Amino acid sequence: MNICELGLGHCAVIADLHAESFTENWSTQAFADLISLPATFGFLAFDRDSDDPFGFVLCQGDDIEAEIITIATRPSVRRKGVAATLLKAACTQTARMFLEVATDNLSAISFYEKHGFKVVPQEEKDRLLEKYWLIPERQVETSVVLADQKWFDLY
Ligand SMILES: CC(C)(COP(=O)(O)OP(=O)(O)OC[C@H]1O[C@@H](n2cnc3c(N)ncnc32)[C@H](O)[C@@H]1OP(=O)(O)O)[C@@H](O)C(=O)NCCC(=O)NCCS
Repeated sequence: MNICELGLGHCAVIADLHAESFTENWSTQAFADLISLPATFGFLAFDRDSDDPFGFVLCQGDDIEAEIITIATRPSVRRKGVAATLLKAACTQTARMFLEVATDNLSAISFYEKHGFKVVPQEEKDRLLEKYWLIPERQVETSVVLADQKWFDLY
């Protein structure tokens, strides 16, 4: 497996990968708009022989603090370390990483916990969600925020 930094040329590929993993549809243009933002960064994992895409991670933030907007591995290659490789690459770009995930997404929560992320306390979750996300109140209620150890060391 190889990885490379995400660029505008990958938007159609990651829209397809996203559609395989989520019911919510994000268009190629939506990814192009996101990737065009200066604070957005991410990585694509692909087969080193065939170039077939395996998964991607998309983040926003800076070298101090960043959030994972989305991460996905195509179903046929899950539990082989694809997301772990992507997460490791993303975390090299920032000191502290955090993310929001649906409370019932147990596989994702397990994945992040395996990599040292922990659920942030309710009060801090509310502060982060208010500061960083424009998401509906219902989604706030049905999500948790996880952060890595460096985040907990600071707060
Ligand atoms: C979460 C996700 C990205 C993990 O990708 P992956 O490439 O399979 O992850 P890795 O192989 O690096 O890590 C596997 C670990 O993740 C956790 N995990 C992954 N799938 C799991 C499942 N179905 N049940 C329980 N734990 C699971 C486990 O800790 C697992 O370790 P193990 O295999 O030793 O038990 C993938 O399941 C996915 O794309 N899900 C749909 C999209 C999504 O929900 N993204 C996260 C929210 S943004």
